[in-house]
Amino acid sequence: MADEKYLLTTENVNLFYSGKQALFDISLYFPKNGITALIGPSGSGKSTYLRALNRMHDLTPNVKVEGKFLFHGVDMYADNVDLVDLRKRIGMVFQQPTPFPFSIYENVAFGLRLGHKVPKHDLNEAVEKALRQAGVWEEVKDRLDMNALGLSGGQQQRVSVARVLATKPDILLLDEPTSALDPISSRVVEDSLLDLRDEYCLIIVTHNMQQAARISQTTAFFNDGRLVEVGKTRDIFLNPKEKETQDYVSGKFG
Ligand SMILES: Nc1ncnc2c1ncn2[C@@H]1O[C@H](COP(=O)(O)OP(=O)(O)OP(=O)(O)O)[C@@H](O)[C@H]1O
Ligand SMILES: [Mg+2]
Repeated sequence: MADEKYLLTTENVNLFYSGKQALFDISLYFPKNGITALIGPSGSGKSTYLRALNRMHDLTPNVKVEGKFLFHGVDMYADNVDLVDLRKRIGMVFQQPTPFPFSIYENVAFGLRLGHKVPKHDLNEAVEKALRQAGVWEEVKDRLDMNALGLSGGQQQRVSVARVLATKPDILLLDEPTSALDPISSRVVEDSLLDLRDEYCLIIVTHNMQQAARISQTTAFFNDGRLVEVGKTRDIFLNPKEKETQDYVSGKFG
């Protein structure tokens, strides 16, 4: 079902690592903009599901992915899909900030140069725009030539976000993007993500309940490879339908 309302639909997703099932019949739908939080205990399948959303498992042998994934109404897992292009349109930010050991400027320009010859002026503009959108421009604009590894963790993470944004994605996948950061840097990164939610579809895995409650509109609760419940973030936290969800959000397990 290609529903106009959704940018990405995933239906009946099952995933197996060397024959062992890790995801069971997950169906989730993502609109063009807004933040969806994926929560759940360790080992519940959040990262596994997230990685399926830009075909990261293609890189790992012995992983079998089943289900229907439609991105802009088109089968994302079709054989003729250009994976470099797909991963530009569905970008991924990881838990550890992942700057390359070269300049801040080059870190952001990197994705743009992949497969393209971009005029210097356009590159400069795109780098600035991405750094502004990621909320880190003011802090780095006078030292774009500096090695990105010399930035603080929070700044590195926002530069990582800028690198993904530079390729003009529709979707940003974020796997615990602030869990390696101190609380203050985490809030700064969160604020940057909040600024993006009107324009992008963000899907964020987080163990931080406060963070999920603060920034997401929709929350999906995973347990044991299953999607227990998905709904408006407010409802999931204040008025969940399932007792399992209630127990998790109230801190009884996890
Ligand atoms: N590459 C892999 N090979 C085999 N099994 C894996 C692999 N990656 C994950 N798993 C298994 O799949 C299940 C789900 O793991 P996953 O990493 O998706 O959980 P998670 O919810 O992201 O947990 P965490 O909160 O700890 O990051 C776990 O049982 C895990 O051991
Ligand atoms: Mg994980």
